[in-house]
Amino acid sequence: MCAVAASEVALDPSVKQFIDTPRKMLIGGQWVASESGETFDVYNPSNDQVIAQAQSSGKSDVDKAVKAARKAFDDGPWTKMAPAERQRIVWKIGDLIMEHQEELAQLESLDNGKPISIARAADIPLAAEMFRYMAGWATKLNGELISPTVPYAPGAEWHAYTRREAVGVCGQIIPWNFPLLMAAWKLAPALATGNTIVMKLAEETPLSGLKLAEIMQEAGVPDGAVNVITGFGEEAGAPLAAHPQVDKIAFTGSTEVGRLIVDAAKGNLKKVSLELGGKSPNIILEDADLDKAIPGAANAIFFNHGQCCAAGARLFVHERIYDQVVEGMADFARNIKLGPGLDPETQMGPLVSRTQLERVTGFLDSGKSQGAKAAVGGERGEGDGYFVKPTVLTDVSDDMKVVQEEIFGPVVTATKFSDFDEELVKRANDTVFGLASGVWTQDIGKAHKLANQLRAGTVWVNCYNIFDAALPFGGFKQSGWGREMGEQVLSNYLETKTVTVSL
Ligand code: NAI
Ligand code: MG
Repeated sequence: MCAVAASEVALDPSVKQFIDTPRKMLIGGQWVASESGETFDVYNPSNDQVIAQAQSSGKSDVDKAVKAARKAFDDGPWTKMAPAERQRIVWKIGDLIMEHQEELAQLESLDNGKPISIARAADIPLAAEMFRYMAGWATKLNGELISPTVPYAPGAEWHAYTRREAVGVCGQIIPWNFPLLMAAWKLAPALATGNTIVMKLAEETPLSGLKLAEIMQEAGVPDGAVNVITGFGEEAGAPLAAHPQVDKIAFTGSTEVGRLIVDAAKGNLKKVSLELGGKSPNIILEDADLDKAIPGAANAIFFNHGQCCAAGARLFVHERIYDQVVEGMADFARNIKLGPGLDPETQMGPLVSRTQLERVTGFLDSGKSQGAKAAVGGERGEGDGYFVKPTVLTDVSDDMKVVQEEIFGPVVTATKFSDFDEELVKRANDTVFGLASGVWTQDIGKAHKLANQLRAGTVWVNCYNIFDAALPFGGFKQSGWGREMGEQVLSNYLETKTVTVSL
C-alpha cells in the first residue's frame, strides 16, 4: 500500500504489516472496530498518499471505553496492585519501546513526516525515558504526617496525615506534533499513580499510539486499565471530555479546543489539565555568543518544522547584532535539507497535514500583506508533500497577526531592541500565551533578571527545546493549566485525602 522512494529507508516488514491491515482500537483488553464500522484514511504528509486506515470512533465507542476504564478502576487489578508491581510494569513499557524503537521511529516518521533521524534520536528514546522516570514515582507516592495547630479541646490529641490516591478514570486527548512522546507524557504519570485511562489519539497521527497500546499490553498492563481509541475531535474527543464517568481530562492542543474542554468538563466538574498554544519570545542580547545563539535560535523555531507549542517564534535581537543574526539564521535555513521524513538525509520534513499547510501559508500571506519581508523562505517547498520552507520574517511590528498568533510552522519573526530594559521585558511578555522563552547572553546577572521577569512556564538560557522527564513543563496565562513531567505532574493525577484521628 505504501510506496517508498529509493532514497528512503526500507520499511521494516512488521511496519508494512502494521499499516497494511486496518488498525483497530484497544478497549477493555480487546482489539475492536468502531461500532459504526466507519474508518478514516491516514496520510503520509511527505507525499499526500493514504498509508493506512484507522477506526473512526463516536459517542458509543467512547462510552464503551470509559465503562471499561471505570470497571478496571473500581475492580482492579491495576488500581489494587502493589506499587512495586506497577513500577515494574511501567518501567517495562519503557524497555519495550526501546526494543521496538526502529518500528516506532518508522511509523512516527511515516505518519507525522518528521525526519527518521529525529524520531530515532529524540521522540522514541524520550518516550521510553518518560515511562522509566515515572515508574520510579509509583513507589514513592507518600502523604505527610501533619500536626494540627490548635488543640480544639483541653487536652485533645490528634493524629493527622494525608494519603495520595489516584483520581480515577482519566480521559487524555493528545495532538499530532509528537504523537508517541505526547502519549508518553500523559500515560506514564497516570499509570504510575494507579489511574485507569481512555486515550484519544490525534486523527492525523494514530499509528505510533496504537503500536504503543500493543506494547502496553505486552508489558502487562491489565485489560481496561488503558484504552486507546482513534477518531476525530468533535466525534470522539468531545464525548470523552464531557463523559460523566470520567474523573479527569488531560488535553494538549489548540487554545481554542482547550476552552471547549473546559466547557465540556463542567457537567461533572472533572479535573482539568491543559497544555495549549504558545508564541514564545527568544531574546538575543548584545553580548551573546553568536556561534551558539544563531544555530540555537534557528533550532528553537525550525525543530519539528516549528510544530512545537514551545517554539521560539518571536525573536528579539539587539539592534547592533540584528543584521548578523538575521543573515546567520537565513544561511542556516538555506542549508536545511527539506525532504520526506523517511529519507535519512532529511533535516526538515513536511507539515503534518494539508490543513496545517494551508494554515501556515495563510499566515505567510497575511504577514506579506501587512508589510513583512522574508529574509529566507516565505513559501511552500517543492513536491506533493506539505512542505514549507524555513522562514525568517523581518519588517514586522509587534501588533501584526504573524507576531501575535501561533503559526505552528517553521516561521520566526525577527525584531530589534535597543536597550536591556523594562520595555524589552514588556514586549517579550506582550502575548496572551506564556509557555516558554529563551535568553542568549554571557552576562549571568542579565540572564537571571530576565528569567525572573519573563511570564512563561519555561525559560531556557543559552539553550532551547531542552526537555527532560524530571523537568516540569506547562504554561502561564492562556498556555494552559497545570504542569506535565517532573514531580509536579503527579498532582494532576492524584487526590489528597486528609485523615484526622482523635486519640
Ligand atoms: P486541535 O486542538 O483541534 O487538536 C488536538 C486534539 O484535540 C486532537 O486529538 C483532536 O482530535 C482533539 N479535538 C479537537 N476538537 C476537539 C473537541 N471539540 N473536543 C475534544 N477534543 C477535540 O488542534 P489542531 O486542529 O490539530 O491544530 C490547530 C492548531 O492548534 C495548530 O495550528 C496549533 O497552533 C495548535 N496546536 C497546539 C499543540 C500543542 O502542542 N500545544 C498541538 C497541536 C496543535
Ligand atoms: Mg482542530
